[in-house]
Amino acid sequence: MSAHVHPVPEWADSASMDAERYAQAYEAAKTDPDGYWREQAGRLDWITPFTSVKDTSFDEADFRINWFADGQLNVAANCIDRHLETRADQVAILWEGDAPGTDRRITYRELHEQVCRLANALKGLGVAKGDRVTIYLPMIPEAAFAMLACARIGAIHSIVFGGFSPESLANRIVDCDSRIVITADGGCRGGKAVPLKANVDAALDHDGVTVDHVVVVRHSGVDVTMKDGRDQWYGDLVDAAATDCAPVAVGAEDPLFILYTSGSTGKPKGVLHSSGGYLLWASYTHQHVFDYRDGEIFWCAADVGWVTGHSYVVYGALANGATTLMYEGVPNYPDFSRFWQIVDKYQVATFYAAPTALRALMREGDEWVKKTDRSSLRVLGSVGEPINPEAWEWYHKVVGEGRCPIVDTWWQTETGGHMIAPIPGAVALKPGSATLPLPGVLPQIVDAEGKVLDGAVEGNLVIADSWPGQMRTVWGDHDRFFQTYFTTYPGKYFTGDGCRRDEDGYYWITGRVDDVINVSGHRMGTAEVESALVAHAKVAEAAVVGMPHDVKGQGIYAFVTLNAGVEEDEALRAELVQWVRREIGPIATPDALQFAPGLPKTRSGKIMRRILRKIAENQVDALGDTSTLADPAVVDHLVANRIEPG
Ligand code: PRX
Repeated sequence: MSAHVHPVPEWADSASMDAERYAQAYEAAKTDPDGYWREQAGRLDWITPFTSVKDTSFDEADFRINWFADGQLNVAANCIDRHLETRADQVAILWEGDAPGTDRRITYRELHEQVCRLANALKGLGVAKGDRVTIYLPMIPEAAFAMLACARIGAIHSIVFGGFSPESLANRIVDCDSRIVITADGGCRGGKAVPLKANVDAALDHDGVTVDHVVVVRHSGVDVTMKDGRDQWYGDLVDAAATDCAPVAVGAEDPLFILYTSGSTGKPKGVLHSSGGYLLWASYTHQHVFDYRDGEIFWCAADVGWVTGHSYVVYGALANGATTLMYEGVPNYPDFSRFWQIVDKYQVATFYAAPTALRALMREGDEWVKKTDRSSLRVLGSVGEPINPEAWEWYHKVVGEGRCPIVDTWWQTETGGHMIAPIPGAVALKPGSATLPLPGVLPQIVDAEGKVLDGAVEGNLVIADSWPGQMRTVWGDHDRFFQTYFTTYPGKYFTGDGCRRDEDGYYWITGRVDDVINVSGHRMGTAEVESALVAHAKVAEAAVVGMPHDVKGQGIYAFVTLNAGVEEDEALRAELVQWVRREIGPIATPDALQFAPGLPKTRSGKIMRRILRKIAENQVDALGDTSTLADPAVVDHLVANRIEPG
C-alpha cells in the first residue's frame, strides 16, 4: 500500500521526543520496564515512595497486574495541589457553554477550593474511601470537580454519559452499588434540553437501586422535583462546606474509577482503573502524544462520560498543569463553524476529536472552516474509530492548513490511555494509520490460532505484556476480566480489534473482530441492542449487526422477528426504533430495522451473523455458503426485503 507519507514536522527538535529519543525510550521500556517506569513515575508526586515497579503476569497460574504497588499517592493532589506554588492563578479549566457567549474560567486556586469544598460535602454525606459515587452530569466544570473530589477522599467515581437512558443509568448504579448520584437539573446540547434530573428520578424507581443522596447542580434552570431527605442542591452543600480538605493517601493499586463499556456479550462491564499506573499513563501519553507544552491551551472535545474525557479532558491534562478546555455543546450549533470559532476564541493549540465529527463537518464544505483563523493550532488528534484517509487529509489540509501533524490515537477504555499513536516530533505519518506503539506497549498480530505473525501481515491485535495504564479488573467480576481478555490467546491481552502491519511496521486498525460495533466513536454491544429489542412485548427474536455508515463510521442494522400473530407495519417499526432509544439511549438508535420472519440459523440454532452483515452492507452477491443453514430460504426473504438505512 503506497499511502502518502507526511514527514515529522520542522519543529521536531523542540518536541518532547524526537525520533532518536523515541527509539531509545521504546527500547528501554521493552528491555528494562522496571528501570524505565521507575524513572517516568517521577512525573507524579508520591506520598509514600514505591519500591516495587512492575509485578505482572498474564498467565492463568499467576495472573496479576500490579504497578508501584507499595507506593501511595493522591490523584487530586497530583492534578491540583502540586501546581499551586507555580500556577495558582493560571486557568485550569476553560469552559465554553452550549450557547455562544456563555463561558467560565477556573484557575488552579479556584479548582482547589471547589474540589475541597465538594470533597468535604461528600464526606458529610457519609462517602468514605472505596465507596462508589455515580456522576451523571453534562460537560460542565462540576463534572471535573466531582471526579477530583472523589479522588481526593479515595472514593471511586463511576461516570455515566448524560446521553444514557434511565434504564442504563439504573443498571450502572446497581452494578457498583453506589449510594449517591451527582447530577444536574438538566444539560443543554445544540440548544436542546437534556432532562438529567428527571432521568435520575426515573432510574431511582428501578428495582434494586438503593441511593441515599442525590446532589443536583443548578445548571440549565429547568424545573425539577426535589425529594425531601434525598435530594440536595449542590450549591447549598458546597457553600456550607469548608474550603480545605486534606488529600488522603491511597495505594497505587487502589481504584480511581469505574467506567462501564460494552463488550461482545452480556451487560456492559465496569472497567476498573488504578490510581498510580493510570495517572502515570494519562500524564505520560498526554505529554508525548500531543507534544504538550507548558502554557498551551489543550482541547479534547470528548465528553467526560467516555474514557477519552477521563484521561485527556481531566486527568492527563491537569496532572501536567495544562489549561484544559471543556465544551458543553455540539459541533454544529449554532452553525458548522463552532469548533473553529472556539479554537480562535481561546487560541487552542491542540484539538482532539472523533472522526465522526470531522466527517460530519467535512460534508458541509470548507467555507465553515476557512472563515476562521485557526493559526493557534499546532497538533490535531483523532480518536475512537478508524479515520478514513479522506477525512484525515481534510483534517490535515483544511483544518490544519498542512501545518499540524495529525495524531491518530488507537486505544480503548480498557487501556487507560493511548497505545498506538504517532509521537509528533518522532514519527512520520500515514493517513489512516495509528502508526507505531508507544514506549511500554508490545503489540503483536496473531492468527486465529494465536500464532504470532511477523512482518507485513494482517490478523488480530494482542498486547504481549502489561503497561501501567491497563485496567485492573471488571468491577465485581474478576473472573470475567480474565475470561474476556486473556483466554482467547493465553498469556496475552486480546484487544478485540483486527489489525494490519505494513512493510514499515506501521499498524492499521481494521475494526472490531467481535460483536462490538462502533457508532460515531461510541462503543455498542450488538447483544445489548438485541436484548433491548426482545424486551418489547411484540418481539420474539432479534439480531443486530453493524454496517458501514458515511458519517457514523458504523450504523446499527437490526433484524427483528415478531411474535406469532403480530402485524408488521411502519408504525411498529418506528415504535421499536424509539423503544431501543428509550431503553439504552439515543446513541443506540437503529439506523435500519428490518422485519425478519426467520433468521439464518445453522442446524444447531446459531445465528449466522456473517450473512446478516452482508445483507446489511448490501453485499448480497457475497453471501458465501448458505448450504449449512437449517432453512436457506430465509435468506432469500431477507435479501428481497432489505431496507435502505435512513
Ligand atoms: O475498535 C477500536 C476503536 O474503538 C475501540 C475502543 O472503544 P472505546 O473503549 O469506547 O474507546 C474509545 C476511545 C479510546 C477500539 O477497540 N478505536 C479507538 N481508537 C481508534 C479505534 N480504531 C481505529 N483507530 C483509532 N484511532
